[in-house]
Amino acid sequence: MFKLMFAPIEDYSDSALRTLCYNHGADLTFTEMTRVEGIIRNNKPTLQKLVCMDSTPVEIQLLASNEMQLEKYVSNFNYFEGFKGFNLNMCCPSKDIIKAGRGAGMVKRLTKAQNLVKIIKKFNYPVSIKLRLGANILEQNYKVYLRLIEETDADYFIVHAKHGLQSSDELSQDNEVYVECVESAKKNGKKVIANGGFDSSLKIKNVQKTKVAGVMIARSALNNPGIFNILKNDLGINDPNKKIPLSKELRKEYLDLTKKFDSPPKYKQNLFKWMR
Ligand SMILES: Cc1cc2nc3c(=O)[nH]c(=O)nc-3n(C[C@H](O)[C@H](O)[C@H](O)COP(=O)(O)O)c2cc1C
Repeated sequence: MFKLMFAPIEDYSDSALRTLCYNHGADLTFTEMTRVEGIIRNNKPTLQKLVCMDSTPVEIQLLASNEMQLEKYVSNFNYFEGFKGFNLNMCCPSKDIIKAGRGAGMVKRLTKAQNLVKIIKKFNYPVSIKLRLGANILEQNYKVYLRLIEETDADYFIVHAKHGLQSSDELSQDNEVYVECVESAKKNGKKVIANGGFDSSLKIKNVQKTKVAGVMIARSALNNPGIFNILKNDLGINDPNKKIPLSKELRKEYLDLTKKFDSPPKYKQNLFKWMR
């Protein structure tokens, strides 16, 4: 079944917002990007990003590059209900992160990426990769992303179809890039999720022609966390009578969740700047 996922969003996608999106149709959610070195140092703000207060399906998104640190974390990981796997961030466009060969700078580092995936698999946890097409246009032209998709053993790949120097606001690539990603993943029986600019059922219907297995949505869900069921209704995935809440009902549900989960105030302040 075609999946709609709620994206990892730093300073927004805490447990309360993930649960809200799940309650309104998101099939899977992600924690915001969390640095492994911070986790193993028991850095408090870093550990806060990993808090999961209920059984909402979630993948933990990691920014990892050091094998020993990753192994130390994963070997001590406490499984909890709702945990669906780890997601390796190979998409962060921050200059410093790319310069350190991390985030979008990891896409071309095939051996390193393979090692990170292997470590997670060694402990029998599912692992996905969220990637950009490379750190820059040159890497994109060399199609480093296809090599990553074909030669790492992640369970599936989320493709944000831009390179690391492109801003999220730039117009999305045409859907051709998903066609080649799907073909590459298919060689190993793997699937691809498309990410970037999916704010209407029309755009999703278009990308479905490329045979991606789902889409991941970030900013449109900040505008309206109820978007998942709206889109599912339009796509004919849901019972068409599924109730769509009013914005004020969503706000109340979210506020109740933040109270119940004792969320740090910044998440609420940030979300209310986006919600329409
Ligand atoms: C404020 C903000 C924070 C983000 N934080 C993360 C993050 O922690 N990890 C990540 O993989 N992507 C992050 N992203 C990227 C989104 O997950 C997504 O790939 C991007 O916004 C494109 O999807 P969209 O067009 O649906 O917004 C962030 C995006 C925004 C706008």
